[in-house]
This record gives sequence, structure tokens and C-alpha cells, in this order.
Amino acid sequence: MERTFVMVKPDGVQRCIVGEVVSRFEKKGFKIVGAKLLQVSKELAEEHYEQHKERPFFGELVDFITSSPVFAMVLEGNNVVTSARTMMGATNPKDSAPGTIRGDYAVNIGMNIIHGSDSLESAEREINLWFKNEELTQYDVTVSKWI
Ligand code: PPS
Repeated sequence: MERTFVMVKPDGVQRCIVGEVVSRFEKKGFKIVGAKLLQVSKELAEEHYEQHKERPFFGELVDFITSSPVFAMVLEGNNVVTSARTMMGATNPKDSAPGTIRGDYAVNIGMNIIHGSDSLESAEREINLWFKNEELTQYDVTVSKWI
């Protein structure tokens, strides 16, 4: 079963919409297999965003992600990597459609509420970076047979 890494960024935590975001993924039919609220270190932020380290906004991005706690999750389900990205909406909120998380809650590319892995390879890397094996669970939900 496919898994992805999703994080409600500091702006989402500060705006008290963690529950709203989690609820959207639960209602869609994805299973939460790991979740935690944490204050991100500079080292973790730099490693997570390492592919963007040459970009002009890198320092700003690291400062933002470390500015306040984030809510990190691992979601499981069919095609969850792509579906979660679709539910999040375009990276720049000016382009994200209404009904998507960014389309409904964000106006600024620097503060766009949520991060989700962009491929299966990124998902594997990010899950291993953010979660220890023992922080992830395996369980059955009875609702799964209806989805
Ligand atoms: S994507 O989705 O990876 O193609 O998006 P990309 O445009 O490459 O952006 C990568 C992440 O950098 C964030 N970003 C910015 N942060 C601050 N300021 C500016 N100008 C800016 N531009 C892009 C963007 O939100 C992406 O963060 P994540 O957490 O990966 O969504």
C-alpha cells in the first residue's frame, strides 16, 4: 500500500486548521499511520529541503519551517502520493483551485499551509527522514472495505 509524507506547516498550526486539514484526508479515505507535532530543527529543515538549497528563497523557507511547530503525518492509501498533492492544490496559492487546501486557505507562496511528497521516491526519503520505524503503525480500519 502506498504511503506519503504530509506536513501542516507553521502557518497552518498557528491558524488552528490542523484538524481541518487532517479531516480532509480522513474523509477522502486515507489512513493516518503516523503523526506528530514537532518543533523542526534547522538541520532537519535544511535536509528536508536540500534539493532547493541553491534557490534564492532557501533561507526564508528554512526560517519559516523552523519558526513554529509543524504537524507531520504519514498517510496510506491507493495513489496517496498523487491524490494528496491534488488535494493540496498548486504550490503557489494564486494558482490553486478553490476546494483544494491551498486554494481555500492560502494567499502567499511563502506561507502555503501544507507540504506533501511529490513522488514515491520523495515519499520514501521524507518518511524515513521524519519518522522512526517504531513511530509508524499498521492497523486495519473497518471502513476501508467500503472505499
Ligand atoms: S514544487 O511543488 O516543489 O514544484 O514547488 P517549488 O516551486 O519548487 O517550491 C518548492 C518549495 O519551496 C517553497 N517556495 C517558497 N518558499 C518561500 N518563498 C518563496 N518565494 C517560495 N517559492 C517556493 C514552496 O512552498 C515549496 O515548499 P513545499 O513545502 O515543498 O511545498
